[in-house]
Amino acid sequence: METKILNASLDENIIICADVIMSGGLVGVPTETVYGLGANALSGDAVAKIFATKGRHTDNPLIVHVASPADVQIVVREIPDMFRILSNAFWPGPLTLIMKKSDVVPDEVTAGLDTVAVRMPEHPAMLSLIKKSGVPIAAPSANLSGKPSPTKAKHVFDDLFGKIPYVLDGGNCRVGVESTVVDISGDTAQILRPGGVTYEELEKVLGVAPTIYNTALADSDAPRSPGMKYRHYSPKAPLTAILGSPKMSSDFILTHIDDCCNGFKCCGGVHKVAALMFDDFASANPAVVTFGESSDHNDQASRLFDALRQLDSLDADIILAQVPDEKGLGYAVANRILKAAASVQHV
Ligand code: TXA
Ligand code: MG
Repeated sequence: METKILNASLDENIIICADVIMSGGLVGVPTETVYGLGANALSGDAVAKIFATKGRHTDNPLIVHVASPADVQIVVREIPDMFRILSNAFWPGPLTLIMKKSDVVPDEVTAGLDTVAVRMPEHPAMLSLIKKSGVPIAAPSANLSGKPSPTKAKHVFDDLFGKIPYVLDGGNCRVGVESTVVDISGDTAQILRPGGVTYEELEKVLGVAPTIYNTALADSDAPRSPGMKYRHYSPKAPLTAILGSPKMSSDFILTHIDDCCNGFKCCGGVHKVAALMFDDFASANPAVVTFGESSDHNDQASRLFDALRQLDSLDADIILAQVPDEKGLGYAVANRILKAAASVQHV
């Protein structure tokens, strides 16, 4: 199968892709967070193709995307009070809410759980595609499992060429990290995955601090957020997250980048070191990929996954990465870098 990239701002292209969704196929779709690999969420057979195409574990459930808060009624059994507050504040946008599922949602979507993850995305092309398809669209990030999430149509094309007919090109993703996943199926809101809506924003709207699900304390056989047990976003070369102030971590990286594995005691020979650094602390070394100023968490989020893909193309043996502070969107950015990391070094 040839994969074609279609301009998402043309209605005729939305219609072509809606036809694919309605006939049980898969399409690469733009959202404001990352690109998704979409299928009809009400068809178990269509959804099963997502897992096969991505190489995703079938016990890792998917997010169902709806075009309005009212459409949530189709896929959930009961609407918790917190839903109104959170959807009013953050939808359309990068917030996924976990609620008790209704019977129309196939087990393939939820991996057999009695809850379903739902989100109303903000990207106009995605909203239009859901409306034209006439069904909610289940979509995980449109990367091959183990690769960084795609934030450009080209990333989807590179990962899934020959496996899907179309990628709808809606431009670079505005947010750049995935949605925040919040479980509201119980009495209190619990963050299962940090993302585009920040902890501080959730706390302000809820009037209480949300709890954060700690995967380290979880029973590894039955984690609350199944996706978290898999290592994501891993670059080809092992990445070491360098923790410390921007000045300390950059001093550490810049002394090692020309000096191979000095201090790493990892090899008897020479390692090619590449680095992920803040714009305001980087050197002009071609092995350095930057992802925004140290204080600009929005820019870091929108550039991170593309930067990880660029680092892959450098064919390094080791990647050293600066990590932002965890305020605001920095929390989600730091979370993704630490997930990509094979090790951590404090400086
Ligand atoms: O921004 C996003 O969320 C993107 C775009 C395409 O919407 N999607 C995305 O999907 O990141 P994915 O499949 O890569 O991540 C979905 C996460 C996984 O960690 C999964 O385990 C969790 O949501 N999840 C889905 N359903 C769940 C449920 N019923 N209970 C707990 N966690 C769930
Ligand atoms: Mg993903």
